[in-house]
Amino acid sequence: MASPSAVGAPPKAEELQEEKKKPSGQQIDPYNVAGEVDESGNIKAIDYDRLIQEFGVQPLTEDHLKRFEQVTGKPAHRLMRRKLFFSHRDFDKILDTYEQYGTFMLYTGRGPSSGSMHLGHTVPFLFTKELQEMFDVPLVIMLTDDEKYLYTRSKNDGTQKKGAGVEDFLQFAHENIKDIIALGFDPNKTFIYTDYEFLGGHFYWNTSEFESMITLNQAQGAFGFGGSTNIGLIAYGAKQCVAAFPSSYPDLFGLPDYRAPDYNPQGMRRHKPLSKIPTLIPCAIDQEPYFRILRDRCDRMTDPHPKTCLILSKFLTALQGPGGKMSASDANSAIFMSDTASQIKNKINRHAFSGGRESLEEHRQLGGNPDVDVAYTYLSYFLESDDELAELAAKYRSGEMLTGEMKQRCIAELQKFVGAFQERRAQVDHSVMREYMRPRKLVWGGNPSPTKPAGKSGEEGKDCGEGAGDGAGGGEKRADGRGTKGERKAAKRAAQKEEKLAARPKQQAQQQKQGGEAPASSEAS
Ligand code: TYM
Repeated sequence: MASPSAVGAPPKAEELQEEKKKPSGQQIDPYNVAGEVDESGNIKAIDYDRLIQEFGVQPLTEDHLKRFEQVTGKPAHRLMRRKLFFSHRDFDKILDTYEQYGTFMLYTGRGPSSGSMHLGHTVPFLFTKELQEMFDVPLVIMLTDDEKYLYTRSKNDGTQKKGAGVEDFLQFAHENIKDIIALGFDPNKTFIYTDYEFLGGHFYWNTSEFESMITLNQAQGAFGFGGSTNIGLIAYGAKQCVAAFPSSYPDLFGLPDYRAPDYNPQGMRRHKPLSKIPTLIPCAIDQEPYFRILRDRCDRMTDPHPKTCLILSKFLTALQGPGGKMSASDANSAIFMSDTASQIKNKINRHAFSGGRESLEEHRQLGGNPDVDVAYTYLSYFLESDDELAELAAKYRSGEMLTGEMKQRCIAELQKFVGAFQERRAQVDHSVMREYMRPRKLVWGGNPSPTKPAGKSGEEGKDCGEGAGDGAGGGEKRADGRGTKGERKAAKRAAQKEEKLAARPKQQAQQQKQGGEAPASSEAS
């Protein structure tokens, strides 16, 4: 029996060979990505239309693209135009929210299973970066070193292998964070953290509350866990879920995150107005089961959050072709962001599955199939020009273009992308990395002209009425430090006002400071 694949990875090539013996349905979840195996043992391409049905997500349509362009005033990103981001949950609602109230939070993440990310991992990050630039909104990026440690140990029957201890995954996380930074995120609007370093405070309070809403049966159902899965991994999902709540990161909105030794039970609670800010998560569809669990429980939190919105991509396929995703556990299935130009060339030339014909004559006569051709597929993710992409497909189908030529085009494009990445990556040292990881007030602009700007929706009292303040606002205190009833009321009002201001993008906050009134509220669910 082949050794099992590493963290979050699809089956290795040899495992797929074994799988050939038994027909099975396609399996997509955070820990498995594999196409259907038919009666003859052939692995089929992942059927994304079927996934839409099975997961109950919505397809991304031309109407969404038009609406996106209307709201942002910018053309849709190539990954959307080509429907590589192909489905969503409530994407239209996040657009409405942004149009009306002007802001939301972006959230995505990475499970650091190796020291270098591969090309597939860059897909959601490249897209997220574009969204951040277009919408001008805050972004949090979670590195789940804890998840990958627990998963690896579970895979290894409870044994901790050499090079797979807690500190190893923390180190992978740091290397991956440098990779992510090299993709070009704005340091003023981006907070990146690893679970081992950051979890605590309001994040952990949210986690605990969320854990109490997931039963063992539900975790087993969503993630395919069994009786021998370690309990750390079973509980882990709650953390990936509450990471979507802006209330888990008060520092980013200029509010205090009560942690020891400063916590005082007198009036200190999580900041209710932050629970009104909606979140959009860009990721591949393997992560969707987490967020299904999340969306079902958002409104049961003490401070209910709007249902989190998702925009979901297909998988950048393994070099060996459709049916699995590019995987860090099989060096030959993946192009790593640390690969040299000649490694890229060799991998594409030797391993990239071809949609060409058996012989040159046949290919010239019948033409090739770009839909299954890996070199063409990679170009569809990374080549910006729609016209050139269409021309490549047409020439390949007609037989005018050969597999070797398609591979050359792909090699040139990937070498350019990875080479430019590596130059930027070389500039990211430890102190640059730490700057992104410092909990601090982020600065963003949001929608400069929301249709329901501050003060127009009448939601204010409803949103913030019960939020106990943090005691900010000063005033003389009583001997017990709580102040008089009137002082406490005034302090509470001042704290609420501060919270609401903090939860808004900077223009709106300025508007209000200059006299306008404004609810932070925006309904996304
Ligand atoms: P991880 O490290 O497995 O994957 C990181 C991100 O990359 C996506 N992805 C891919 N996208 C396209 N093609 C591929 N071949 C491919 N392989 C992976 C994943 O969907 C993901 O978006 N548990 C998570 C980490 C995480 C996270 C999140 C991810 C924490 N919070 C929020 C997305 C959103 C993980 O292990 O991702």
